Amino acid sequence: MTASPSPLIDVCDVKKEFRSRSGTSLVALADTSLGVAANQFICIVGPSGCGKSTLLRMIAGLETASAGAIRIDGASVNGPRRDIGLVFQSPVMLPWRTILQNVTVPAEVMKLDAATTKRRAGELLELVGLGGFGDRYPDELSGGMRQRAAIARALMHDPRILLMDEPFGALDALTREAMNLELLRIWEASRKTVVLVTHSIEEALLLSDKVAVFAPRPGFVREVIDVPIARPRSAATRSDPTFVALAERLRGHFTAVPAA
Ligand SMILES: Nc1ncnc2c1ncn2[C@@H]1O[C@H](COP(=O)(O)OP(=O)(O)O)[C@@H](O)[C@H]1O
Ligand SMILES: [Mg+2]
Repeated sequence: MTASPSPLIDVCDVKKEFRSRSGTSLVALADTSLGVAANQFICIVGPSGCGKSTLLRMIAGLETASAGAIRIDGASVNGPRRDIGLVFQSPVMLPWRTILQNVTVPAEVMKLDAATTKRRAGELLELVGLGGFGDRYPDELSGGMRQRAAIARALMHDPRILLMDEPFGALDALTREAMNLELLRIWEASRKTVVLVTHSIEEALLLSDKVAVFAPRPGFVREVIDVPIARPRSAATRSDPTFVALAERLRGHFTAVPAA
């Protein structure tokens, strides 16, 4: 419904209903459609509980849709996929492993060859600004640094698609702003197809080509807004008149819609 004729990620009239053990049902997502073109950066914003995480899990093949279809490159998603990297709000790191050893976990799972893995892990740590920190342990890094390591880990097996669920939600405001700029730089260098969930309108506008606004539960895509702001973007982008006008427009959605 949004982008090119055949989007890389095609979410088509997807519904998700959860059933509790007592038999009651909860419709988390209703008739959700969203297209994400290859190499596009799309952000999803919406109130808590509107099914954003559920949608990401379904795209990742970790959850099945109750109705509708999710296709990647034309093929239905029916289980976890190798071409997806996932980043969550709180990076889950193995505390007994160094940062380098954490970043290489996907390579071990996918049995990539050792020499390539070592070279790639080194490059990725440089890319996320952690060159020289590979031999540290997770508890020796700040929250922002751990999240950067999680991004490096998600990119380890060179997935086409990066799904990020409120990746900076646990960070303080200043670190978060710095991480936004860092992610822009990483994306410019890697050009993955990214779907990122955020509560922050500014974060969504700064990062993305399109912002999908979700309605409260049961969630669906209320509107998809194009962000026609030139790249590369920077901190100064926040004062661009288009940015300011779009922020105002997006804010209108949330003041008009009661919280879930
Ligand atoms: N595994 C589950 N079982 C039952 N209900 C669930 C499950 N996962 C999510 N939900 C419910 O589905 C709704 C959407 O959840 P979620 O996708 O986490 O929302 P969001 O990420 O937008 O905050 C919520 O009401 C949540 O309680
Ligand atoms: Mg969520």
